Amino acid sequence: MLQAYPEVIILADENTSHHCLPILQPILKNIKETIIISSGEENKTIQACEKVFEKMMAVNATRHTLLLNVGGGMLCDLGGFCASIYKRGIEYINIPTSLLCMVDAAFGGKTAVNFLQTKNMIGTFYEPKTVYYNTDFLNTLPLRHLHNGFVEMLKHGLIAYADYFEDLCGIDMHGIDLTDTKHLLKYIQTSIDIKQQIVGEDPHEQGLRKILNAGHTIGHALEATQKNMYHGEAVAWGLLAEAKLSNELGILPKDQLEIIEAFIWNHYIASKPENIDYNMMLEKIKNDKKNSSKYISFSLLQQIGACGYDIEVELDLEVLERILK
Ligand SMILES: NC(=O)c1ccc[n+]([C@@H]2O[C@H](COP(=O)([O-])OP(=O)(O)OC[C@H]3O[C@@H](n4cnc5c(N)ncnc54)[C@H](O)[C@@H]3O)[C@@H](O)[C@H]2O)c1
Repeated sequence: MLQAYPEVIILADENTSHHCLPILQPILKNIKETIIISSGEENKTIQACEKVFEKMMAVNATRHTLLLNVGGGMLCDLGGFCASIYKRGIEYINIPTSLLCMVDAAFGGKTAVNFLQTKNMIGTFYEPKTVYYNTDFLNTLPLRHLHNGFVEMLKHGLIAYADYFEDLCGIDMHGIDLTDTKHLLKYIQTSIDIKQQIVGEDPHEQGLRKILNAGHTIGHALEATQKNMYHGEAVAWGLLAEAKLSNELGILPKDQLEIIEAFIWNHYIASKPENIDYNMMLEKIKNDKKNSSKYISFSLLQQIGACGYDIEVELDLEVLERILK
């Protein structure tokens, strides 16, 4: 895989460099430099990109240098963004090491950093040359991060494939065993297939791809305003709140909402959002790049396994509070 490139620069964070680079050692070739950035969503910034560019320039990285992103969604979003603009674009490969990144962030070519406390405000569409994933990485991923990634898998089932959602819920509605990482492989592949099919039909999010944003309008605003809430956790509550909204608008039947509610409640009760700043959330939602007027554009579930997009909703504080209760 790497032999094709005269030189390779690895980008990792302090956790993935420690836990994941040793696993990759046998396949690493032509490595010119390893750049290690600080982990955490708060470091998905333009400033972190500047440091990456400085280090790339210090070793004279050229247009033929490959950037190898080894990390979770934060690292791959940031690394993909750096690759897309360094010398007007160099090739990159994603090696996702978190569950969330394996099933979602590593694929589809959306790159971004956060700006002025707004999620993914600055970014590009720029596809990785390839994505290599290995469930061995998941053995060192903390359980909370496994749950975090699981939410994006649930979302795939909810928006596009009801049987898959049912499989993920498990017979007793307690979900599949996320610590059995080998067993996870087939589910990971299903999620990747769902995402790839949607992205293949609409690479630049002109239409269908917007269904992948289900749960994210509320989720991103929660993530930006709640301390210590991970992306997937915020999306779980976003999916539930948006399902309630969809039901209120007469789009999602009540029995379907109750199934979603029962499952998310079972799983995520521990991290239910607290002391929500509804005003700030509403401001974030209105400032979001996808919303241009007082109407907020949502992707809303129509039933488990089907989702609509470009549904304009006049969202006010009262509605927001009600759907997040
Ligand atoms: N581009 C997209 O299409 C897309 C889709 C969904 C989410 N995202 C983005 O993904 C990000 C969230 O991704 P994430 O949850 O992977 O976050 P993350 O990259 O911050 O990783 C979570 C934590 O796990 C650590 N980690 C990663 N792999 C590990 C391993 N194998 N062993 C031990 N520790 C490990 C990381 O260092 C970090 O501390 C958000 O920024 C979100 O916006 C992007």
